[in-house]
Amino acid sequence: MKLGTGHPVVHFDRIDSTNAEARRLADQGERGPLWLWADAQTGGRGRLGRTWISEPGNLYATFLFSIAAGAEVAAQVSFVAALAVHDMVMALRPELAPRIKWPNDVLIGGAKFCGVLPEVVGANPARIAIGCGVNVALAPDGTPYPVTALGAGLQVESVLQQLDASLSNRLRIWDEGKGFPAIRLAWSERALGLGGEVTANPGTKESRGIFTGLAADGALILTERDGTVSHIHSGEVKFAELEHARQRTT
Ligand code: BTN
Repeated sequence: MKLGTGHPVVHFDRIDSTNAEARRLADQGERGPLWLWADAQTGGRGRLGRTWISEPGNLYATFLFSIAAGAEVAAQVSFVAALAVHDMVMALRPELAPRIKWPNDVLIGGAKFCGVLPEVVGANPARIAIGCGVNVALAPDGTPYPVTALGAGLQVESVLQQLDASLSNRLRIWDEGKGFPAIRLAWSERALGLGGEVTANPGTKESRGIFTGLAADGALILTERDGTVSHIHSGEVKFAELEHARQRTT
């Protein structure tokens, strides 16, 4: 099967993880571009070592591609992918008014419906796998955060078609890093909590301040009350805007 952009799709009824399959293919020399799409995953992986519940009804897909630039630009792909998911929802269901939560979660009404897991899966040339899980029909129970789904009436295949078109467009603009300023700007215009209060790494060595921007390397810039500026590269970040909205609805 081929998508509208011409990208081939390898479809599986069930697989451990489409990201794991991308790594296996890259190990065998595959360069892409291609999609790996599964109806269900038995070992779906999420960020921060979490499991990604992968029952039939939602989209589980990984885009595998190569870049001529070095793997150091790969961290930027998170932002490219989040924008592509945002574009996909705006094309299919604009009334859902999605927002992007740093680094690459896209939320609807403060709830997560999609997860993006970019990984470098090969070298010479650098191979990147962007794993995307999109709740189309089902919002799984038991997650440590509120979840939602795009809603009935959408076909999983149409979501993949639109995601591929949106991702191809944003990857073209990104241009292996040369277009990152445009990506950063577009990402910032759609970001949740920019200019608002954030807490980074809650529960450990916590920093609290204002989310003042996205750094060139994709770090969240946090400016504390005393003027201290920290660059947050990974971990959990809590956004006051989101917490307040949740308190209003519970
Ligand atoms: C997250 O935790 O936000 C990221 C979730 C990414 C899930 C997708 S589903 C397709 C691909 N295969 C995986 O095992 N994970 C990603």
